Amino acid sequence: MSGQNIYDNEAFFENFQNSRDNPVNFNDCIETPILFAMLPDLRGRSVLDIGCGMGQHARQYSEMGAESVLGIDLSERMLAYAREHNSADNIVYRRMAMEDIETIGQSFDLITSSLAFDYVSDFTGLMRKIHGLMKDEARFVFSMSHPIVTAWDGVYDRYTRTETGERLYANLRNYCLEGPRKVDWIVKGYECYHRTVSSLINALTGAGFIIEECQEAHISDEMRNQHPALFGGTIHRPEFIFFRCR
Ligand SMILES: C[S@@+](CC[C@H](N)C(=O)[O-])C[C@H]1O[C@@H](n2cnc3c(N)ncnc32)[C@H](O)[C@@H]1O
Repeated sequence: MSGQNIYDNEAFFENFQNSRDNPVNFNDCIETPILFAMLPDLRGRSVLDIGCGMGQHARQYSEMGAESVLGIDLSERMLAYAREHNSADNIVYRRMAMEDIETIGQSFDLITSSLAFDYVSDFTGLMRKIHGLMKDEARFVFSMSHPIVTAWDGVYDRYTRTETGERLYANLRNYCLEGPRKVDWIVKGYECYHRTVSSLINALTGAGFIIEECQEAHISDEMRNQHPALFGGTIHRPEFIFFRCR
């Protein structure tokens, strides 16, 4: 099975679980509302959730009327949590690297993924494999870290700040240099991949997708003002990028 498996690292898993358990987090307050607003009607549809993690979205897709949901993920810990807390009769969780999805041997009405594509080295190849699993009229809706966020290598602060610590502006480094970025974040040598916005778009269109909608992460002024430590930076840079394709 290919792919870095950082979510089976105990410290990393615990940190992710703690942040997911707190209702004020980036997933529930920013990522999920935007992604769900881009979804088609799920009633009677077959859904594949790539990098399903702890299964929160898979369960919501089931509750939204999906006929079947297949959640795949590399991490045993994430899948164990999903099976325990987010099961339903029409959800199957399977351990699988997204790099191997062509072996699923099934096609879907909706393929979705939340914040998992940051970890794949061959994004272009993955887009082609996903295109091969789409039924006619299917939709592909996903989020990933915005390239402005992954253009960072940990050698300087993410923000330039005032003397009192207020974020003045966001920093980025080597935006035009694509490839793996290793930083010390929760664990030493956390790795994700940086790509430019044009590379994402060209990988999608090159695989045969038509892009119907693109969104960049945003949050209300009210939420940002209520939680300045967590969300204060979101005025300077979009944390995530979203696409809906057919
Ligand atoms: C940031 S978490 C997001 C989990 C979930 N989609 C959510 O929104 O809460 C990224 C997930 O991608 C999974 N992942 C990372 N690399 C993967 C790979 N190569 N194949 C399948 N899953 C992978 C991780 O194990 C983790 O569960």
